[in-house]
Amino acid sequence: MSQPWPRTAGFQDGWLTSVGGVDVVALAANYGTPLYVMDRAELLARMRQYRQAFGPDVSVIYAAKALCVVGVLQLVAGEGLGVDVASDGELLTAERAGFPMQRVVFHGNSKSRAELRRAAQLGVGTIVADSLDELERIAAVAAQERRELAVMLRITPGVAASTHTFIATGHDDAKFGFSLWRGAAGQGIDRAMALPGVRLTGLHCHIGSQVTATDDFVMAAKAMCRLLGEVRDRHGVELDELNLGGGLGIAYGPDDRIPAVTDYADRLLTTVRDELAAQRLATPRLSFEPGRSIVGPAGLTLYRVGTGKQVAGLRRWVSVDGGMSDNLRPALYGARYQVAPAGRPRRGGTAEFSVAGKHCETGDVVATDVNLPVDLGDGDLLAVAATGAYGYAMSSNYNRLPRPAMVLAGDGKSRLLVRRETLDDVLSHDVALS
Ligand code: LLP
Repeated sequence: MSQPWPRTAGFQDGWLTSVGGVDVVALAANYGTPLYVMDRAELLARMRQYRQAFGPDVSVIYAAKALCVVGVLQLVAGEGLGVDVASDGELLTAERAGFPMQRVVFHGNSKSRAELRRAAQLGVGTIVADSLDELERIAAVAAQERRELAVMLRITPGVAASTHTFIATGHDDAKFGFSLWRGAAGQGIDRAMALPGVRLTGLHCHIGSQVTATDDFVMAAKAMCRLLGEVRDRHGVELDELNLGGGLGIAYGPDDRIPAVTDYADRLLTTVRDELAAQRLATPRLSFEPGRSIVGPAGLTLYRVGTGKQVAGLRRWVSVDGGMSDNLRPALYGARYQVAPAGRPRRGGTAEFSVAGKHCETGDVVATDVNLPVDLGDGDLLAVAATGAYGYAMSSNYNRLPRPAMVLAGDGKSRLLVRRETLDDVLSHDVALS
């Protein structure tokens, strides 16, 4: 059994009262709602847990797409992790956070020439090439910038991970990477070896996200080790690095069964060691790219209830002041979240509610069929667990809602990580016709 709330979440009679020693009523009053709250202790503990589980010889590279804001990346850099960025914007955020560029890995299946140039100029540690087209583009940028670029190849290992189809990435006809299928990976490796300005340092794979079956990762790891053996046989070269991506799932609800990071690490390290020994290969530097499992459970969202409505005999609704603009995952993937009342506990019974967002879509639902205080209504606070990953990251201004603020809570104090957008911010790019 897992539970989705961060470790410092304080509960009283089923009500969330504090995070990081900070009173949630005060948080909502000081910063407004909706509010993303990051639990500092949970965030740090998760990074340390990854580093300990994998040990000093393995690089843990935080996948910034899960949550890419300067303050969070500062904490990530401080913990000695690397960072995976997938756009100019993420790269710039890492730079602004003072990330050592050597520890940056640049991903993406359609990096522009401008993005590659910026990466080269900044001295990004590794560029992960996703296609033959991109390899040529990287070589052109290397020539233009007069520097050799360290490149890994993203391999699609033919593993259909058991997760939502939108976020499975390791199957043969995925849009990402060089498939093992029909030799595309071999062609990519041959080309990368031959291209001037490109130094092939290793291979990468990432089979998908919110994956909870360790066997899926094991299958991919085996395929990657076999490929390293083929590279040695064909080119007489043992590559320096093997990056097995991210994707470990998290608990969104109390019944979700999630492998512990230590078990995931043990299984993968053992698989890789055995597989490499069978190939008589030396161990390359290993790296992993967790995103969701670092920041997801460290974050929660506070909303304020607006209206309620009862559809006689069918359903009780409450609507909150945010929704699919601050958390797209329920609408996009049918994701389910744990909800709790927040603030000063009140006595009384509970009833089953559905919690809706305030957007103009029926699919804008925060959670369905959750037990909440029967008298829940206008002005009450609700907390939604495990929203730290891919919440703010995929937020929008749908219906012209300003994006919420984000705070870091720990040791009885709160700090702003992202200030709330104003309506002026939202309108600031519109150009009126004269
Ligand atoms: N490495 C690469 C190359 C990736 O593409 C990703 C995620 C990760 C690492 C990190 O995966 P994680 O540990 O966070 O699962 N928006 C979706 C998730 C998309 C993930 C994309 N790539 C969601 O909300 O579920």
